[in-house]
Amino acid sequence: MTSKEIRQQFIDFFKNKQHTFVPSSPVVPQDDPTLLFTNAGMNQFKDVFLEKGTRSYNRAVNSQKCIRVSGKHNDLEEVGHDTYHHTFFEMLGNWSFGDYYKKEAIQFAWELLTDVWKLPKNKLYATVYTTDDEAAELWESETDIHPKNILRFGEEDNFWEMGATGPCGPCSEIHIDLGPEYDDGNHDGDCFVNSGCARYIEIWNLVFIQYYRDEDGKLHNLPKKHVDTGAGFERLVAILQNKASNYATDLFTPVIDHIQQFTQLVYGEKINQPPFHVIADHVRMLTFSIADGGLPSNDGRGYVMRRILRRAARYGRKLDILEPFIYKLVSTVIDVMGDAFPEIRERQDHIEAVIKSEEEHFNRTLDRGLEIFDKITNELKNERKIVFPGTEVFKLYDTYGFPTDLTRIMAEEEGMELDMKGFEEEMEAQRQRARAAAKFDSKFSGDLNWITLNEGSDSRFVGYEDLAIETHIMSYAVSEDYTRIVLKETPFYAESGGQIGDQGMISGDGFELQVKDTQKEGDHIIHLCKPANDFKPVSDKVVAEVVSYNRMNTAKNHTATHLLHAALRNVLGEHVTQAGSLVEPDRLRFDFTHFEKITDEQIINIESIVNQKIQQNISLEVAQQKFDEAKKRGAMALFGEKYSEVVRTIQIADFSLELCGGTHVRSTGEIGLFIITYESSIASGVRRIEAITGPRALDYAQNAKQTLQQLSHILNTGEEALVQKTNQILADKKKIEKELQRKTKQELNSNITDLLQNTETINGIDVLIHRLEEVDMDQMKELGDKIREQNKNTAALLISENAGKITLVCVVSDDLIKNKQIKAGELINEVAKVAGGGGGGRPHLATAGAKNSSKLDESIVKFKSLINSA
Ligand code: ALA
Repeated sequence: MTSKEIRQQFIDFFKNKQHTFVPSSPVVPQDDPTLLFTNAGMNQFKDVFLEKGTRSYNRAVNSQKCIRVSGKHNDLEEVGHDTYHHTFFEMLGNWSFGDYYKKEAIQFAWELLTDVWKLPKNKLYATVYTTDDEAAELWESETDIHPKNILRFGEEDNFWEMGATGPCGPCSEIHIDLGPEYDDGNHDGDCFVNSGCARYIEIWNLVFIQYYRDEDGKLHNLPKKHVDTGAGFERLVAILQNKASNYATDLFTPVIDHIQQFTQLVYGEKINQPPFHVIADHVRMLTFSIADGGLPSNDGRGYVMRRILRRAARYGRKLDILEPFIYKLVSTVIDVMGDAFPEIRERQDHIEAVIKSEEEHFNRTLDRGLEIFDKITNELKNERKIVFPGTEVFKLYDTYGFPTDLTRIMAEEEGMELDMKGFEEEMEAQRQRARAAAKFDSKFSGDLNWITLNEGSDSRFVGYEDLAIETHIMSYAVSEDYTRIVLKETPFYAESGGQIGDQGMISGDGFELQVKDTQKEGDHIIHLCKPANDFKPVSDKVVAEVVSYNRMNTAKNHTATHLLHAALRNVLGEHVTQAGSLVEPDRLRFDFTHFEKITDEQIINIESIVNQKIQQNISLEVAQQKFDEAKKRGAMALFGEKYSEVVRTIQIADFSLELCGGTHVRSTGEIGLFIITYESSIASGVRRIEAITGPRALDYAQNAKQTLQQLSHILNTGEEALVQKTNQILADKKKIEKELQRKTKQELNSNITDLLQNTETINGIDVLIHRLEEVDMDQMKELGDKIREQNKNTAALLISENAGKITLVCVVSDDLIKNKQIKAGELINEVAKVAGGGGGGRPHLATAGAKNSSKLDESIVKFKSLINSA
């Protein structure tokens, strides 16, 4: 049985039991501030468990892309060193939303495992939460599992929680005994279920969701009971394909074979296995997270991705692979997984380009790390120290990607040892920082005290047609940051798809609340109003009104964003995909995948295409349709966006078709004008364009026109000749400057003989003091050199004052340096000091600056007296 067949059989089994297939949500979650990566199949249903969202089905099945590398569920350290933990994995799951509960969940799982897949019943174990008698009894009554194989465990193993807060409940896990030959010795006490031993591994977790844990750690009963299950797909495949390791299944072998092409070392050797495993695992994680819109960077999610990539690259070095290679493996991951998850195939070029540039970057970093290592060891040797400090070990590890064992080997070669205690302290501090980073700020309402004025459905969005309506408050919550209001229906658009939330006013009997922002929570639309501590409405009737000027400008920018997206694909190519977007009343910002600088010509071209479409005044066609149909018609779905079954499409003739819930103009002519104001790179492979439309674009054009008019007035020429005239003036200026330099030089040269007449003999030395104007330092030095050439017994001081800046140059003839030990560098420093400055240089020529021009006479006296006493 291939892995593809196994995935399909799972889905079909539950479809036959009235479950609706729901596609995997993106692995980079867009709308849950408590999660870095999607870590379980239930993430996308969190709102249903919390009664904040609804679905049209109450039974679901799917195969969810998951990443567990941070936060509560973190498997990173194990990955590569055992055969069954992964950073990225698929979780097969079935769900009941307030429908069936423990009994059916247990029946279904048993039937699929033992009846369909024929796993040996006596090798299967079921665990239940210590106090969950119900589940234990159901295992006995509903299945023919051996009663001795029903085991009870505590909170750690049998109470499942999504994270620090969220839906949770007791769970029942199914484990399989793979046989004594799988005992890897990696366990405390006996090798048994939940001992960490590879002989008994968990294959399926049935969670009975019935609680919510709040921020204080308290459990609350949920209104309904739900089932949430998760089966590790890679493990199931290994068992059903009779393989000793997940890495020996058809999910991994093609990738491992591909890695083998880059190295002489052999996968079969046990010692080489971890590097192959780490790389094969990590390239999957990177492929999927980049496809869903993640990018390696220095913080948050991107930081985790960067570390995973570097871990893979470091293990590559263990296989003697020095050149970038991970990006080449992406095509094989796509061969294996691209049918089930077409998004990775669609974004192949982008994924490869991001990984390649990150690998190149890392190689450069490693080289720099080697230099730093040398520098530190040299310093330590000079100080006769033999302990390599923990802070430096950490810096090499964290910033330059040096594994500690590499640093240790290198240090030992230099006769040094590592301060591992210091290193561990730094690591702990970093873990603290990572934990803090994983806690996002949230505007969301958490555990506020909501007051309900009306029961029933709420938050129907009517703002596509209406901007002001009469409606009712359903509930509200007062707190220090905002007064939050939920309305029965609302014209306010809640932030999503890059379009910011509407602003406006909610007014009722005796109050007016300014709406600063509008956000979604599950299915609810929350109006975030300026705080009003004493808010206590006497009536629930209100008028809700959006600021229409802002909304109209936002609509112009949103439609223009769609036009821009299509124009970019026309001009730059089909690889262009949206990577981020911001739509505000005043401007739009669009981030997209592209690897080169965009030329000025391309910018003009893109701008022209968008403006053509505006002038054609095309009516927008807005439609509701099934997601699959829309995709079939070629609608562009966005990076990492999660779509419901029925989606809204915005079509602009045959030019643009996108899935989008945002607000738009009725026809493109309303946009008026589109101007690109900014283009840049924001990360490797991602560029940003900012643009303006409507009134803002008009302002911009008018300002530009005014500037041109002023310039043409100043330069006294027509606008068409401005560039030519400006170039002409600049060229003339250059010429004049050159001429001036030449003249000054000539003058200085011709003056030399005259100048030397003015020397004064002090202490047998020809002393020359000369003041100049409007000459620069280079010219002064040149003059100084000439003086030295012509008089072999001179010490000269040249002083120039130029726009309040005093420059001093001193020269001394070679003979004087030799015979009298007079040094220009020392002289000038003393002299400049008198006039509030300082300087220095070599014995024959030195320079200085000074501030105090009234003291210049005094410094000349000083100069003379220094010569006198030489
Ligand atoms: N949500 C459960 C898990 O992740 C099924 O194990």
